[in-house]
Amino acid sequence: MKDELKEIAQWILSAKRVIVFSGAGLSTESGIPDFRSPGGVWDRYNPEDFYFQNFLASEASREKYWQMATEMYEPIKIAQPNPAHLAIAELEKLGKLDCVITQNIDGLHFKAGNSEDKVIQLHGTAIFVSCLSCQKRYDRNEIQERIKKGQKAPRCDDCGGLLKPATISFGQSMPEKETEEAYHRSSLCDLFIVVGSSLVVQPAASMPLVAKRNGAKLVIINRDPTPYDDMADLVVHGQAGSTMGSILDYVKRGIGAGN
Ligand code: APR
Repeated sequence: MKDELKEIAQWILSAKRVIVFSGAGLSTESGIPDFRSPGGVWDRYNPEDFYFQNFLASEASREKYWQMATEMYEPIKIAQPNPAHLAIAELEKLGKLDCVITQNIDGLHFKAGNSEDKVIQLHGTAIFVSCLSCQKRYDRNEIQERIKKGQKAPRCDDCGGLLKPATISFGQSMPEKETEEAYHRSSLCDLFIVVGSSLVVQPAASMPLVAKRNGAKLVIINRDPTPYDDMADLVVHGQAGSTMGSILDYVKRGIGAGN
């Protein structure tokens, strides 16, 4: 394992464009459950209840959506970055990060210190709420206060439109600018590191393929096997926090040794 982490660090040191692609497995050590592990979100909720079409369909399904979204927001609200988030932020400070492409909605990359222009949020964010009609943005905590006071499916103050956490639900269109940017950068990078994703949700899961097809090295760091393990140059089935922490140490030593 040690040699593999040293090798990944060496690849980071010699790479020109490094992308980190993160999924929910990056944040489980921050107390936020992932989706497909035992005890994960889809163990507790039926994914169909989160479909965008359902949200639009009726007041009852919006109330159910907000009830579930409120429960899911609790661990996100109090979560702090873990060593994996901090390692990725430090790679940016060391000038060794082209960007982070994330499926995560928890905002922890920013809390860890990554800058706005270095993080592409493919599935939106749970930190804000937006009106589906006029796109007015609200702070999430402010809307959660309204729900605590009894509102079941809040509406926009300006236009009366439906308010929804600014996440991308199943069946909702992907954010165009972010998706295009992610594809573009994936096609240009020379090292693509997946951290904590099952790589089963499209179109996000096609980014590692785009990188690989354009000649990049592919590294997968995930506790469980993924459908892309066979095509990766290196796979580490380990915990994100300790693995990324060790890799960062080797990178720093490498830089210290004049690499
Ligand atoms: N360290 C490393 N890997 C971990 C850890 C950890 N501490 N904890 C969990 N994992 C791994 C699990 O083994 C699992 O394979 O992270 C992976 C998380 O996979 P998913 O739960 O499927 O999450 P993700 O890949 O981000 O899901 C993609 O699906 O439900 C939608 O919109 C949602 O963005 C999400 C998308």
